[in-house]
Amino acid sequence: MSLSYSLSAHPSPTSEQEREGILANPGFGKQFTDHMAVATWTKGEGWHDGKVVPRGPFQLDPAAAVLHYAQEVFEGLKAFRHEDGSVWSFRPEQNARRLQRSASRLAMPELPEEDFLGSIKALVAADEAWVPAYGTGETSLYLRPFMFASEAFLGVRPAHEMTYCVIASPAGAYFPGGMKPVSLWISTDFARAGEGGTGSAKCGGNYASSLAGQLEGAAHGCDQAVFLDSSTHTYIEELGGMNLFLVYRDGRIVTPELTGTILEGVTRASILQIAKEMGLQPEERRIPIQEWKDGAASGELAEVFACGTAAVVTPVGTLKWDGGEVTVGDQSVAGGVGENTADIRRRLLDIQYGRAEDTNGWMTRL
Ligand code: COI
Repeated sequence: MSLSYSLSAHPSPTSEQEREGILANPGFGKQFTDHMAVATWTKGEGWHDGKVVPRGPFQLDPAAAVLHYAQEVFEGLKAFRHEDGSVWSFRPEQNARRLQRSASRLAMPELPEEDFLGSIKALVAADEAWVPAYGTGETSLYLRPFMFASEAFLGVRPAHEMTYCVIASPAGAYFPGGMKPVSLWISTDFARAGEGGTGSAKCGGNYASSLAGQLEGAAHGCDQAVFLDSSTHTYIEELGGMNLFLVYRDGRIVTPELTGTILEGVTRASILQIAKEMGLQPEERRIPIQEWKDGAASGELAEVFACGTAAVVTPVGTLKWDGGEVTVGDQSVAGGVGENTADIRRRLLDIQYGRAEDTNGWMTRL
């Protein structure tokens, strides 16, 4: 039987005036809606107690396993307002399935796809007024489903109790600079994930492991770090929170193949399809970092961009490392955004906001 996510009344929802003020300039990840969807899993009993409740702190035992052994997985997806006022999400079933894969890697129970979709629908129904109006720039309601080990137990084994929750946050651009090309630092001191590890799972530990690299990048004046494979320090992996694409002047568009150490991005997969529809030649393969340096130097490499649910499509201008830097021809800060990067971004957003025909059946009405 699937979870029903009953709604309990909110004693103090945000006033309309305050909400409109937040929606006018939401930023990313700083503001939250009035409710959250929750459910519990207990060993032997399965999933139960699905409900939508006023958003607020959890009461968590200090021995909760997640605080000690990081048994936690999460997702990120968005709700978009269309011109007719309806609210849609982009490929939510892909997020549901990835959450299941992540959970299984972290020895956690799988949440059935219908319960994942049910939680998203129930939360968006309760907080519909928080979905930004159509035509207010690229704003949306970012949904963050997550699951963690809430059992109070210090032995190292898969926990017997899990809490699942979805919170929602009105979102504008992830990078404060908007579409200004970002700079990347090649992290050599740190790897994000190793073979056989949790690299392809969307779990908090991978993001924690990327933070020292990000600080290293910031110390060198860069916006983000790019991680290389941990075995040979040769091949491009991802940024920690985003996948990468390289676009060549001859029409090839290349992204690192899924080796088990990088995130299987929903945006990444969708861009591979969009690129094909644009007549570009998508390739998934191992990409030596040297190829980026050489391509930028020779001018063959025209554009590089990062992508993800939060970042959408973000141009990358400069790549820096200890002893050098290159800038991709069409995306210097002065040169702006490359033609394909801008086109892919526009096509993706047009589908998400209902401005283009959804030929792949990617949108789900909430
Ligand atoms: C997302 O794009 O949804 C993520 O989870 C990545 C994070 C940088 C916000």
